[in-house]
Amino acid sequence: MSPGTNGAAAATSAGARAGAKLLFGDQPGLRARLQTLRPLICPVDDVLEWVPERATVFDIGCGAGLLPGLLALRRHQAAICGVDASPHAIAIARALADRVGTSTERPPLEFNVTTSTDEWPSGPFGVVMMVDVLHHIPPSAHRRFVSAALARVAPGGRFVYKDMARRPVLHAVANRLHDLVVAREWIHYVDPHVIGALANEAGLIPLHASHHRRWWYAHDLLVFERREPAHETT
Ligand SMILES: C[S@@+](CC[C@H](N)C(=O)[O-])C[C@H]1O[C@@H](n2cnc3c(N)ncnc32)[C@H](O)[C@@H]1O
Repeated sequence: MSPGTNGAAAATSAGARAGAKLLFGDQPGLRARLQTLRPLICPVDDVLEWVPERATVFDIGCGAGLLPGLLALRRHQAAICGVDASPHAIAIARALADRVGTSTERPPLEFNVTTSTDEWPSGPFGVVMMVDVLHHIPPSAHRRFVSAALARVAPGGRFVYKDMARRPVLHAVANRLHDLVVAREWIHYVDPHVIGALANEAGLIPLHASHHRRWWYAHDLLVFERREPAHETT
């Protein structure tokens, strides 16, 4: 199925890069500046294509707010809410919300710090996104983390998941080194089939799966949809 069939606006690679520069190019601090480079190593454009217009969005592990910010530039979302474990990242995201949130045409942006799934907003949301977060979560918590996300997808809504791929092995090693240097973490790759099984358990059906490469980074993008309940005929 093509993402455009639901009227989602395509965000081209150049668009994501230009948008990132617009959002963060003049901001102080290394973390904010690095957001402008993120579309070069992460298929941000491919991820955002799966976010339909007018959907409410919950971005889990939103970081400095790059993806919500790019969605806000499209002006098509109903509302966007992000959570992240890092107070520093959320401070940058909130400053971003202040900058883009002054226009009445923009969707409301809200960002909160939390590491606990119990503190996530209950939703449900038209789109729940989890982009490059799960490899930072200990494997023993994967099921709970992903299931909590899936539980917040509204009927007819989507779970848009992207994470670093375990294959090719050289790419996986390069990305592991990246996270050792940048995040000082030994990351945990997740088999995409595990995400598929959890989505199936939660009553979502697969909509899309693709593999992407940017430089020496390899990515798995998975999209699932919760079917609308069938209407009873009388
Ligand atoms: C690689 S960044 C991705 C940020 C953003 N999703 C993006 O694509 O630009 C991973 C983010 O996950 C966040 N994170 C890690 N563990 C988390 C948790 N338990 N709850 C929420 N966020 C978490 C980190 O703080 C970090 O900002």
